[in-house]
Amino acid sequence: MTKLERVPAKKIPDATALLKADHKEVNALFEEYETLKSNAKKKEVVKKICTALTIHAQIEEEIFYPAVKLALKDKELIPEAAVEHATLETLIAQIQDVEPDGEIFDAKVKVLGEYVKHHVKEEQSQIFAKAKESSKLDLSKLGEQLLRRKEELMATLA
Ligand SMILES: [Fe+2]
Ligand SMILES: [Fe+2]
Repeated sequence: MTKLERVPAKKIPDATALLKADHKEVNALFEEYETLKSNAKKKEVVKKICTALTIHAQIEEEIFYPAVKLALKDKELIPEAAVEHATLETLIAQIQDVEPDGEIFDAKVKVLGEYVKHHVKEEQSQIFAKAKESSKLDLSKLGEQLLRRKEELMATLA
């Protein structure tokens, strides 16, 4: 590299792009689970799902939701999403660190996956859509904050 070439700044996704990428990643893990036969593999993928969802929900609750609530003066979408997170937590607790022991365990993973899909759909079609339209939100700054916190939590939880 010559002296004149600049090192490109690390590309940081904006808030909604970062959260959407998380959604995609976890959805792929649920799809992978469906194909698995061995309990050891199932355990491994469930661990990834639980960690990913926990970190994702936490950065939304700590950073994204409060910022959006304030900017949109929202009294409906964010509280609803927060309640859904609480339900997600109880579903996660039923499979986290539990031995995959047959059809009931598979059913729990499936129900969690369906619930996540529902939550993600509402988030993306309503909350993200409104957040993108708002002039009061700096989505690139929020993206940076989300990324920093995500990396922090990954280092402690992984
Ligand atoms: Fe969420
Ligand atoms: Fe989300």
